[in-house]
Amino acid sequence: MKCRFISVALSLGIVFAFVSSISLAATPLVDKEQYPYEPSLLQWEKSAAEFTDPETCGGCHPQQYEEWRGSMHSIAFQDPIYQGELRLAIEAVGHDVAKQCEGCHSAAAVVAGEVKGAGLKDLSPLALAGVSCDVCHSIKGHTHWQTPTHQPENGSMILSPGKEVDGEAVLTKYGPNPAEDGCGDGFHECVESPLHKKTELCASCHQVTHYEKHTPLEMTYTEWKSSTYAARGINCQDCHMVELEVFKRSADTFQKPESGEYHHYFNGANFLMYSLTEMAAKKSGDEELATSSRQKYEMAVGRLQAAAELDISPVYRDGKLAEVKVRVNNRRAGHSLPTSLTNIRQMWLEVTATDASGNVILSSGKVDSKGMLPENTRRFNSDGMGDSMHFAIDPWEIVSFSKHDTIPPKGYRVVHYGLSSDDDGPITLSVKLRYRQANQKVAEKLLSHLPDDMHLDVIYGIKEIPAVPIIDMVDKTVDIDPKAKFSLAK
Ligand code: HEC
Ligand code: HEC
Ligand code: HEC
Ligand code: HEC
Ligand code: HEC
Repeated sequence: MKCRFISVALSLGIVFAFVSSISLAATPLVDKEQYPYEPSLLQWEKSAAEFTDPETCGGCHPQQYEEWRGSMHSIAFQDPIYQGELRLAIEAVGHDVAKQCEGCHSAAAVVAGEVKGAGLKDLSPLALAGVSCDVCHSIKGHTHWQTPTHQPENGSMILSPGKEVDGEAVLTKYGPNPAEDGCGDGFHECVESPLHKKTELCASCHQVTHYEKHTPLEMTYTEWKSSTYAARGINCQDCHMVELEVFKRSADTFQKPESGEYHHYFNGANFLMYSLTEMAAKKSGDEELATSSRQKYEMAVGRLQAAAELDISPVYRDGKLAEVKVRVNNRRAGHSLPTSLTNIRQMWLEVTATDASGNVILSSGKVDSKGMLPENTRRFNSDGMGDSMHFAIDPWEIVSFSKHDTIPPKGYRVVHYGLSSDDDGPITLSVKLRYRQANQKVAEKLLSHLPDDMHLDVIYGIKEIPAVPIIDMVDKTVDIDPKAKFSLAK
């Protein structure tokens, strides 16, 4: 009896598995005719017109070139953390996945057929230039509503560097302003593109989904889209293509920058990469790049330090201190704080309380000697999971999240710490909101998987992987009375 039941269940199971595999095979998520570079959803309007390397654009647009050079976009392909992860991706799931990655990290290389895998060898200057001028200024449109998620994802934009007129290549560049006579000096035609003033220009790359299953992994666009910034017309450009002071104004007052206030910094949070770029520039004797990388480093730290605020309030019960409440406010990030690689980036609270006699009575979130955070640290991150519900950090493995605990735009999180003291004197409470690009183990794993033609020592002059640097976004110290000054209790 029992046996028969199992065998019926088993055969039903097999039928079900069979049917579901047919239905999966019958409905591929992505139309390969429409998306020839799948798993990247990039499209290219092919013509005799080729992509141009940034040095050539820089010849006539020196200011944009100097601002872009050394930016995260300019190093999107040569970034050692990216190269290490790209190598691991290809080892894990095969070479095809590289098209997905490169579709965003070096889009022009994908359409030019230069997807060689990890490493810098035998690539054109254009491929090495990552998110270069001609990637953005050839964006003619997008296919955001036709993707599997019906949102921007995995590079869902249309690149068109030019057209053919009587068999001759004519370059067309899409920009924010109406084209004036002689625009482009005979080198290119100009096309006014309203898209270039909108978030949707950035969205195709700033919304990453799983290469096969399309689970959203990095969701900067959708976080922004459901924020008050989107409702008030404050776009990515209004915070990331302007100076620090202008960014703060955009975030605080929702006032749009003037057209002359835009710059090509694309500055975000990655202070670590700017400091590596500075080291590489110094090593190769490029003083100009070293100086601009230092400025970009300071700008990124400035953005991080302007992003959040802390409110600290003691809670008394029966006239005695019982706990402290720490409220972390996302004041100026136009998306969740942190955003995008939320399962790798680390933002956390470090809390230390000392009583009047100097004894530490509370300690949480202190990095240990191996560069790791203690279990009980309050982090504001996400935890990714693989197929069998195991913890995963790599984008080809993650298919769901067990936790999303980032702070929404203009939102906050409250954290409670139990705290009391028998001592009568004041308690000194130090609270820091800290940030780093990755924990020590992840950084070491990626940097020790660099492709064979990249050496930390040769490029950066680094002999061994140092401790991942940490920035204090907010650092606040307050004195707290262990006894309530007055009590509402009868
Ligand atoms: C990530 C995309 C991106 C990249 C890369 C990029 N641009 Fe732009 N560019 C923009 C956007 C967006 C604007 C419009 C800003 C605004 O709203 O006015 C712009 C504006 C411009 C303008 C109009 C004047 C101005 O500065 O606002 C020129 C010229 C220009 N870019 C040239 C370049 C050159 C040259 C490079 C490479 C050195 C480059 N861009 C790289 C996105 C990009
Ligand atoms: C849809 C576009 C897109 C795709 C596809 C994509 N990335 Fe990225 N990647 C980004 C963006 C945008 C960032 C920057 C996010 C940030 O700084 O918070 C990034 C950041 C990274 C970083 C962090 C770099 C650093 O310096 O901290 C790594 C590593 C990385 N990507 C690896 C990969 C790999 C490997 C793949 C393919 C399996 C891939 N990416 C696919 C857009 C993409
Ligand atoms: C021979 C000189 C020359 C070269 C090379 C050149 N441009 Fe231009 N470009 C101009 C001039 C002149 C204008 C009009 C004035 C201005 O906006 O700077 C212009 C305008 C633009 C605009 C329109 C800006 C707006 O206000 O909307 C964009 C975008 C642009 N160029 C991008 C590029 C890119 C990308 C490259 C490289 C692929 C490039 N240019 C190469 C001369 C050049
Ligand atoms: C062709 C794809 C692409 C487009 C279009 C694009 N980005 Fe990016 N962006 C990237 C990639 C890839 C990185 C990450 C590079 C890395 O970490 O190595 C990045 C990094 C950044 C960073 C730095 C993040 C950090 O951690 O500091 C900012 C800020 C940024 N982009 C803003 C923008 C804005 C604003 C726009 C639109 C005007 C835009 N991006 C358009 C691909 C793109
Ligand atoms: C109101 C201002 C504002 C707007 C609008 C905004 N950002 Fe940001 N962004 C910030 C601040 C502040 C930070 C630094 C704190 C952080 O990491 O979130 C940041 C960080 C980032 C980072 C780096 C995140 C990390 O921790 O690695 C990326 C990538 C980024 N922004 C992309 C975008 C894109 C794409 C858009 C548009 C969809 C956008 N931002 C809109 C203010 C803004």
